[in-house]
Order: sequence, then structure tokens, then C-alpha cells
Amino acid sequence: MQRFIIKGQKPLSGEIKVNGAKNAALKFLSAALLSADKWTLSNIPQIEDIFTLAKLIQSLGVNLSYDKDAFSVHAIQDPKTDLNPDLAIKLRASVLLTGPLIARCGHVFLPYPGGCAIGQRPIDIFLKGFSSLGVKIKAKNNGYVLTTSSLRGNKFFFPQVSVTATETLMMAACLARGKTLLWNAACEPEIPFLADFLNQCGAKIKGAGTPFIEIEGVSRINGGDIAMMSDRIEMGTFAVLAVACGNNTIKIINCQPEHAQSLWLKLKEAGAKIKLGPDWVEVQHANNIRAVDLKTQEYPGFATDLQAPFCVLMTRARGVSLIHETIFESRLFYTDILNHMGARIIMADPHRAIVVGPTQLCGQKIISPDIRAGIALLIAGLMAKGETIIENIYQIDRGYEKIEERLRGLGADIKRVS
Ligand code: EPU
Repeated sequence: MQRFIIKGQKPLSGEIKVNGAKNAALKFLSAALLSADKWTLSNIPQIEDIFTLAKLIQSLGVNLSYDKDAFSVHAIQDPKTDLNPDLAIKLRASVLLTGPLIARCGHVFLPYPGGCAIGQRPIDIFLKGFSSLGVKIKAKNNGYVLTTSSLRGNKFFFPQVSVTATETLMMAACLARGKTLLWNAACEPEIPFLADFLNQCGAKIKGAGTPFIEIEGVSRINGGDIAMMSDRIEMGTFAVLAVACGNNTIKIINCQPEHAQSLWLKLKEAGAKIKLGPDWVEVQHANNIRAVDLKTQEYPGFATDLQAPFCVLMTRARGVSLIHETIFESRLFYTDILNHMGARIIMADPHRAIVVGPTQLCGQKIISPDIRAGIALLIAGLMAKGETIIENIYQIDRGYEKIEERLRGLGADIKRVS
């Protein structure tokens, strides 16, 4: 088991580069199974969730190889269709494979997917969506067997906006007979990015990036090459970290600032000094951070994945802020750990936390609960007086590549020990 040891309050400054987007790369690796031709994907982040999904895809008999950030996926023959439960349980994104597999092979065994412990995370919307496309569903061995003789296009209204359900049904509908209309679809930027590439490979998708997606089924998806878009959550995390810990200018490069408008708004409201370029963000040191309220929403609202880092920043803000997490019901429990470090956070209910600031965090021995709370606690460690030890850093490595090396480039005192 590895851990991070952080000596807090070091002055941070300099430049940090954003990697390829985890939540795009997972979808592209899965979508590659729609095609019998080769997909070559670059700028893929070297993180645990990608390696787990790669292993799961290889276990289906698909040719998948990689060298650093460049992946090649070639599902030349029809893949196997039973997902390995031991791998599927490790990440929620395993459910994405059901779309391409059911469309291409007409059968999937989906063990109940795992992932971050941030809420109940049911899969009812996927099942309802598949059912509307003509898929028969049977519960079996702690999972589901999905079968169809042929997918047929239909109209499906998402009862709740869901990112991966939108992507999964959009992928499946590419090879369905006729037209599929997906209404109340999620609008996250990774969705039009995937749709544009699928269109380059022969799919017929219109409206991705809006709540109304129209897909005309085609008989095959071709091969192609693409570099992943940059990770908007990593960009946002670095920006919050820069406001929280920077003692001079921190420049975040290789990013797409237009993908985090609601974050820039909140950070500026809090008194942060931020300059946005076409592919960079510059954060200048600001002494006085004010408390602001925050409510997470679907894109383009404030991303739930940035809620925990923002909450950590609010511990050093003057005043009282209300952090309202609307998407996941267990995504505020890390606030207990912040209190252990000296914060004053009151949980009003599972969805709302009240942060009273400013407080001085102090180093403690803590455990990373999930990817985003994990990185938020790492930021807390950088802000804290004294030494913080973070255990279970697998939960940070799942989403952030070699984070300690990259933060050392800004002057952080952080090391990984076994
Ligand atoms: N939901 C249902 N039924 C379903 C599917 C979802 O009730 O069948 C509910 C969820 O429980 C949640 C809400 O719908 O309350 C929205 O969840 P969504 O399905 O949009 O989340 P997701 O697709 O599982 C993706 C990201 C998450 C990110 C959320 C919200 C990937 C692989 N994961 O999850 O990212 O937090 O969208 O933006 O794209 C992360 O990167 O650390 C992460 C958790």
C-alpha cells in the first residue's frame, strides 16, 4: 500500500500541464469495440481507471495495446460478451462497454459495476434505455444478462440526466436499425467530442452536446485516429489548488478554459484573480478569499467532480458558505476528515454542508475515500500546517497521473512512499 507524505504550506508557483481527459478516454476505449477496424487513441492519461478498463477489454479477446499515452484498440473479431466481475467491480465505467457489445454482438453479461463510493449509483436508466431499443434483460449472478436479435431505434426520454447512460445509449444506437431520439440527454463536452469522432468513423449523430440527440443507425463504424481532449476536471482542480496554495502566479497550460465557465464565475466571486487564455489559465496570488455558496449541477453548471476541492478552498475563505451537492447523495462525507484537520464544517443533511471560515488546517493521518475527495484532501494537506499522511492513494491514482511529481514541479513537498 502506498501513501503520500505532504509537508504543507510550501510556496507554490510555476506552470502545470493538464493531461488528456479521463472521462473522455474511458468512453473512447469502450466505443472502439463498435468497430472491426483499428482505433488509435493518443493523449490517454496513464491512470489506474484506464489500466483497469484496458484489462477488462483485453479479457474480452480484443487486441488492445499501449505505449505510454498511445493506445491501439482493434476488435477485429466479435469480442466475448461476458464482463469479468473482478475487473468490472473496480470501476463504474465498465457499464459503458454494454453499449458497443449489445450493438455489435447482441449479448452482454454485465456484473453490477463498482466505482467510487459516492452514492447508490443505480443502473436503472441504462436498463430502461436498452429495453426501449429492444433489449431483453434478465437479472442473473449479481448482474444482468442483456440480449437482442437486433437493436431498433426508438425515442427515449432520460428520467434523470446521466452522463454515462447518454454515452452508452448513443454508442449502442449507432448500430441500431432506424432512428433513435435521446431526449433530456447529458451535455458534458466529452459527449459531442465522442459523437464527432464517431461521425468521422461513419456514424450519423446530430445534436450531441444538447439535450436532444438524434442518431440514424448505420451498418458499420470504421477505424480512425484521435488525440483526447484535455481534462476539464484536472484543469479545475489545479485552478482551485492555485487559489488555495499559490504564493505567486500559477499557469495551467494545455487546457480548454471554456469548459469550466461556472468554476471561473465562482472563483472570481470568491475574490480569486484569474486570467483566461485560449488554452491556458493564469491564477495570481490573492490574500482575501471570500465565502461563496455553491450548488453542483449538470454541465454547464458547476461540476460535482470539483465540489470537494472547492469546499477545501472555502475553509480558508472569510464567512460562511453553503456547499450543496445535488448529483450524488454520499459525496460530502469527506468533510468529516476536513474537520479532523481543523475545519469547521456542519453537515446540514447528506446533500448540504456549511463551511465556516477561515480556519487553519493542520496535518493529520487521513485516508482518501474516492478520486475527487482524495485530490481535495491532498490540496488540504498542501494548505495545512505540518505533515499530512494520505493513505489509500490508489483512489487518487485512479484519476490523476503521477500527481506528486507534477505538484513537485510547482514547489510542493510531497512524496510517495510504500
Ligand atoms: N443515476 C440513476 N440511474 C442510472 C444512472 C444514474 O439514478 O441508471 C443517477 C446517479 O445516481 C446520479 C445521477 O443520476 O445521482 C447522475 O449520475 P451520472 O449517471 O450522470 O454519473 P455517471 O455517468 O455515473 C459521470 C462521471 C462522474 C461524474 C458524473 C456527473 C464518468 C466515467 N463518470 O458519472 O465522474 O461525477 O458523471 O458528472 O464519466 C469521476 O470522474 O470521479 C466521476 C465520478
